Amino acid sequence: MNARALPAVLVVSTLLALPACRKKNATTAPDPFREAYDVEQDWNDPQHVIPLNYQQAQGKRLFYKTCVWCHADSTPAGPSNRNNLATPPPLFNDGATLNSLSDDFMQNIITLGGSAMAKSPIMPPWGKTLAQEEIRAIIAYARAIAQPPYRPPARPGPRYSTK
Ligand code: HEC
Repeated sequence: MNARALPAVLVVSTLLALPACRKKNATTAPDPFREAYDVEQDWNDPQHVIPLNYQQAQGKRLFYKTCVWCHADSTPAGPSNRNNLATPPPLFNDGATLNSLSDDFMQNIITLGGSAMAKSPIMPPWGKTLAQEEIRAIIAYARAIAQPPYRPPARPGPRYSTK
């Protein structure tokens, strides 16, 4: 490029960039929690922010991709189908329901689906969609956000319990 053309190029590119700057300033501030995977805002109390470790954060990402449509009421991810279901699924932070289920039971119902565990067949089997490690991450996320908080049992439950 010849040296005399350079200032003109700079002026033109600055002018082109200006409207873009103005547009950016006009947008509203993004919700810091919407994309944050290292925390979860307590579903019952927005003032309470729950820190997530790496595994729980992976679980959160998978939950908002695959489970949120049935296991949450409307969220920033979008509207929920939960209230339309014949057996409304427990909210994923529902400690009163989920805390009493063992990790093994959770792993089984998520892998095999509701009908395999004598529950509603509307709960799909995920064993061909998600790896076992991913399902473990989703369970870790459920335990992290549970209200009332989840307390792990002092000793492991029976391996093939129905709860
Ligand atoms: C199409 C809707 C739907 C989707 C999507 C869905 N579930 Fe479910 N889920 C249900 C229903 C309905 C039940 C209730 C079964 C019952 O209580 O009979 C249920 C039950 C469960 C339970 C057992 C709760 C209990 O009380 O025994 C767990 C755990 C669970 N779902 C986890 C998940 C996970 C993890 C995902 C995503 C990978 C997921 N679900 C996706 C509909 C869904």
